[in-house]
Amino acid sequence: MLELTGLSTGYGRTAVVHDVDLTVPDGGLTAVLGHNGAGKTTLLRAVLGLLPVRSGTVRLADDDVTRWAPHRRVRRGVAYVPQGQQSFGQLTAKENLQVVADAHGAAGRRRTADALALFPALEPLLGRQAGLLSGGQRQQLAIARALVTGPRLLVLDEPTEGIQPNVVREIYAAITTLLGTGDLSVLLVEQHIGYAVEHAGQYAVMTSGRITHRAPGGATAVPDAREAMAL
Ligand SMILES: Nc1ncnc2c1ncn2[C@@H]1O[C@H](COP(=O)(O)OP(=O)(O)OP(=O)(O)O)[C@@H](O)[C@H]1O
Ligand SMILES: [Mg+2]
Repeated sequence: MLELTGLSTGYGRTAVVHDVDLTVPDGGLTAVLGHNGAGKTTLLRAVLGLLPVRSGTVRLADDDVTRWAPHRRVRRGVAYVPQGQQSFGQLTAKENLQVVADAHGAAGRRRTADALALFPALEPLLGRQAGLLSGGQRQQLAIARALVTGPRLLVLDEPTEGIQPNVVREIYAAITTLLGTGDLSVLLVEQHIGYAVEHAGQYAVMTSGRITHRAPGGATAVPDAREAMAL
């Protein structure tokens, strides 16, 4: 679904991400782990087309999208949930979903229902202003909104950062359900590695903008991942 080859990017003259090779298989989950400032968000921004690539390529399914504008990648089925539980704070939860659903007609309405089935905790909160929701609720809303676009690749940047453990479990349960459909692939960035590595088909550790370790995921892989991150 996604293939990064020798990808380097950064800000202005500052190189941040160096020579990254990474794939997300069709229907699979690839996790990128790393400490604060490792370059994880920068890498995702290059995948989305929000930062220019200095060298290397970004392939999405059968297309080389390296030079594509972000909106074109989105139309091809990439949905991005940025770090920090963002939503339109003044709008209600329902309106947050509707603004996206309206652009997708009947499919948008159907996907809204599917997303709410996936996050039943949101249902009684639909009338509440998004800005008044808890961090965990806002994160679920942000993922639900991304799903309403009908993505083939869901890109999640630290979806469990600062979120209480029971909501973290709900979010990973939803990710498991989504992967079970076989229609969606997930690129996941995390610092909290237990759940991420457990659910990932493969994971990579990023250190100072480079991939310094990569291995298959799964529950038994968690101790190695901790060691690779020097935890
Ligand atoms: N807009 C920017 N302009 C210049 N440098 C930036 C910018 N954003 C991030 N950086 C730098 O790029 C490096 C990587 O930052 P990035 O946000 O990608 O890290 P991260 O792995 O996502 O960290 P975190 O886990 O804290 O979110 C850091 O040194 C950071 O200071
Ligand atoms: Mg980040």
